Amino acid sequence: MPEPPARRRSPRILVVDDNPENRLLMRELLLSRGYEVSCAGSADEAEKFLSNSYPDLVLLDVIMPGKSGYELCRELKENPETRLIPVVMITGLSDREDKVRGIEAGADDFLNKPIFPEELFARVKSLLQLKDFTDELEHAEDVLCTLGLSVEARDPYTEGHCERLAHDASALGHYLGLDEDALVALRRGGFLHDLGKIRVPDEILKKGADLTPDEWKVMKQHPVTGEAICRPLKSLRLVLPIIRHHHEHWNGSGYPDGLRGDSIPLLARILQVVDVYDALRTARPYKPALAHEQSAETMAHEAADGLWDPELVQAFFSMMKERRAA
Ligand SMILES: [Fe+2]
Repeated sequence: MPEPPARRRSPRILVVDDNPENRLLMRELLLSRGYEVSCAGSADEAEKFLSNSYPDLVLLDVIMPGKSGYELCRELKENPETRLIPVVMITGLSDREDKVRGIEAGADDFLNKPIFPEELFARVKSLLQLKDFTDELEHAEDVLCTLGLSVEARDPYTEGHCERLAHDASALGHYLGLDEDALVALRRGGFLHDLGKIRVPDEILKKGADLTPDEWKVMKQHPVTGEAICRPLKSLRLVLPIIRHHHEHWNGSGYPDGLRGDSIPLLARILQVVDVYDALRTARPYKPALAHEQSAETMAHEAADGLWDPELVQAFFSMMKERRAA
């Protein structure tokens, strides 16, 4: 197993417990190991703290007056901003039921009362190591998404394209009732789908139309290159098929693998539909921007000709109709 990345500052721990003695005890213990410690006497106080800063770990008492530890834990785990912060729930020694409820609320680990220092240190240390890894992964993803934006920036005509795609693709996924993991993948796919264009030279990228057969060969490599760049990151597992297959065609005439129909991964088809729409709606040096109605008509024709998934195109425009009516 690789060593966790080196920390650049002391880890910050938030202790949430309504009992002042417990708070003091945990605070003293954790301070003695060099951690930065903040304390809250209730879930409300913890929420106030969390609205200003994010700790690296939360130690959370289960039973408190007002909002319980379970509720606070569930809220932390449902919020995309805080869901990766490890939460250790502090329960009574024999409360199996507490643990089941804690697991359901998304707790990462448990600590029994009374607190034994060595047990506390061991739990805290291992969860902070895990947090380091997830932080590094998040950081790596941010770097890749920024690279995706830098590819977009090479072509002034595609400004805002990634943002719009990330938004519209996840909106369509939501409209289709897909789960949260799929929606996250679609958002990332918006930024990363054309990452492989980083290896396409400017003169080809900016030409846009009328590419020679050799230039096309280079251009058609971008889904494969993008997939290869992102493959080492396990957290991008669901994004890889989007990157690789966003230029396949429903009738099998696309690239890089010539997949057809349902064998083209659903998330790739979703991104493709919003990508095609956005391209039609945007002016390029070689074509004007189309109005919404013209774009809808063009895509319906192209779907009938076998390029796009006809049901998805229909679903996309139903969603747009509802959105425009709202
Ligand atoms: Fe592409």
